[in-house]
Amino acid sequence: MRKIAVLTSGGDAPGINACIRAIILTAEHFGIQVFGYKHGFNGLLDQEYQALSARNVANIIQRGGTILRSARCLTFKTDESATLAAKNLNALGIEALLVIGGEGSFHGGCHLADHWQGQVIGLPGTIDNDIYGTDATIGYFTAIETALESIDKVRDTADAFERIFLVEVMGRHAGFIGLSACLASASDHVLVPELCGDLNDELDNIVTRLKATMSKRGHSSYIIIVAENLWPGGVTALAQELHEKTHVECRPVILGHVQRGGSPVSQDRILASKLGAYAVEQAIAGKSKIMVGEQNNRVVAYPIEQSWQQQKMLDPYLVKIQQTFFNINKAHQL
Ligand code: F6P
Repeated sequence: MRKIAVLTSGGDAPGINACIRAIILTAEHFGIQVFGYKHGFNGLLDQEYQALSARNVANIIQRGGTILRSARCLTFKTDESATLAAKNLNALGIEALLVIGGEGSFHGGCHLADHWQGQVIGLPGTIDNDIYGTDATIGYFTAIETALESIDKVRDTADAFERIFLVEVMGRHAGFIGLSACLASASDHVLVPELCGDLNDELDNIVTRLKATMSKRGHSSYIIIVAENLWPGGVTALAQELHEKTHVECRPVILGHVQRGGSPVSQDRILASKLGAYAVEQAIAGKSKIMVGEQNNRVVAYPIEQSWQQQKMLDPYLVKIQQTFFNINKAHQL
């Protein structure tokens, strides 16, 4: 194997630069040249690439974002795009393409593999942690830390005014950040898609639980973690509805994209380094249409389609202890 390429696509995540670094250093060790395509799959279509060496990845392990830039490339769904990308990769003599991203990026990689003879390998990079086949995705640990730092600050002002705060966290269709942030910040309620039933019931449920907690704890602060896209009108609408039902002041806070930025914590740097190195080893071994991940501290490789065909579940033990701490009995009543 002489030449491979890497691109970063979709939502960036802290640790992606550490992953690129590991890819370059491992490939150089085995005498393989690496090209980096810019702006996700757009770079494949526009031939926007650069040769990468150890010099390009010095001093980047601690930086968030991605030195290759990222994008969501909607046009990459067409056969024409995949055919053009294949032609461009062949012209450069690329034998394997490493795609760092989430589910949408893996779909793009698979689509390319249907039109290209080269190998395609996915590396899970998304703060959402919603990729089946790996215990954690690159960026997830840092996103929890970032959310926690903010929630702890919100708690200070919430306490001072004895208010209810609704904190919206990211995780487009998944509650991994929400559940972890709730548990680690000792928040008082969490609304995530996996555990949410009918929204009218949920509202009654929140009010009942808040009243029960208030009767025990008295005037205090209450923090509710809410996953994005879950409540119609978001946390602003929910704050209004809760205020009307409880007569306690409620304030919404949307953490938003700050959760995607910042210097990666050590767990993300180490995970990213392992997966970057392993992806190159798998490329050298001739593997294609796989995703590399980590399970129980060991690197693993899976058929890439499984990463979205199977749904990754929240850790049932985390759900159980959160229920215990909330003193409730049914999982869906979290
Ligand atoms: O996929 C990661 C993610 O951060 C999601 O949590 C979020 O819904 C989405 O990306 C936001 O995407 P964009 O930056 O394109 O608005």
